[in-house]
Amino acid sequence: MSDCSNNNPVCGILGTQYPIVLGAMRLITLAEMAAAVSNAGGFGLIAASGMEARELRKELEKTKALTKKPVGINIPVYRPNTLELIEVAIEMGVKTITTSAGNPAKVMDLARQGGVKVIHKVSSLKMAQKAQDAGVDAVIAMGFEAGGHVGREHVTTFCLVPQLVDNLDIPVLAAGGIVDARGVAAAFALGARGVEMGTRFVASNECPAPAFFQECLNKADCEATLLLGKEAMPIRVLKNAVTAMVSGMESGEADQAMVQSGDASYVMSGGDEHTAVMPCGQAAGLIDTVKSIDEIISEITEGIRQIARDVEKSFFC
Ligand SMILES: Cc1cc2nc3c(=O)[nH]c(=O)nc-3n(C[C@H](O)[C@H](O)[C@H](O)COP(=O)(O)O)c2cc1C
Repeated sequence: MSDCSNNNPVCGILGTQYPIVLGAMRLITLAEMAAAVSNAGGFGLIAASGMEARELRKELEKTKALTKKPVGINIPVYRPNTLELIEVAIEMGVKTITTSAGNPAKVMDLARQGGVKVIHKVSSLKMAQKAQDAGVDAVIAMGFEAGGHVGREHVTTFCLVPQLVDNLDIPVLAAGGIVDARGVAAAFALGARGVEMGTRFVASNECPAPAFFQECLNKADCEATLLLGKEAMPIRVLKNAVTAMVSGMESGEADQAMVQSGDASYVMSGGDEHTAVMPCGQAAGLIDTVKSIDEIISEITEGIRQIARDVEKSFFC
């Protein structure tokens, strides 16, 4: 399945040249971004969260017109139409999916019948062991610094990845805080065999997010994010007027306050730099330019070997 020559198990699962996954982003990672990542040798996917079956079919048809390489979908398993969306993916020839937000056990029978591999996103060892027991093929270890929904456990990528590597029998991909070859090399040094990136790909030419989101992200430093809905379903977003106002509240209250405060909404549904909720990782502080997806992936693949040499040279006296 894989055209990767070094037997990386994640390339084997994805069928890709490089073990780099486009982090699913609702209403953002659609056909154009998915195809661009797959054409650059990574694994592009459609964020199916909130989609109807016919919308997903249309998006996959568009993606297939833009690339012949493998593409996947991501589906948060708590969504009531999860199985219906996976049926569409199977029908459209998808061979690997990522799942998040819930117990993946509910999708495994259907996935196996359809010959689909499953990679589940987790934020703790307990969740990872549950996913492994359910039969998933790999897990994505998402650290607390990541953009979007993060774990209630607050474990960072640097601690989560080796903990999972040491305790699981399936491959681990790292997510959270990775934007360049240094981050990928660090993840591999911790034992990960693949990476998923979200925030880096927001600042790409192919990203359909409004320009103000990319401008805020490029200007941001590593302290520019905060957590909303701290106890219930924490989400890491860029600080702005509306998120500063509702931060510290529980998610139910926060949602209410946002609505009362003047219609703050997810960045793809409206608003501006002051009122839109812009999910974003701490690694925004490491990004200052919008680049093409091909450039982002090429810089990573070209940078890895040099970093390995530099580490060896600089460590030993
Ligand atoms: C704007 C945005 C939207 C996101 N939406 C989703 C989503 O719909 N489903 C999901 O599983 N993860 C979502 N995430 C998380 C990403 O898929 C990915 O795991 C995360 O961005 C990795 O951390 P990083 O941002 O530090 O690269 C989102 C992240 C961002 C920045």
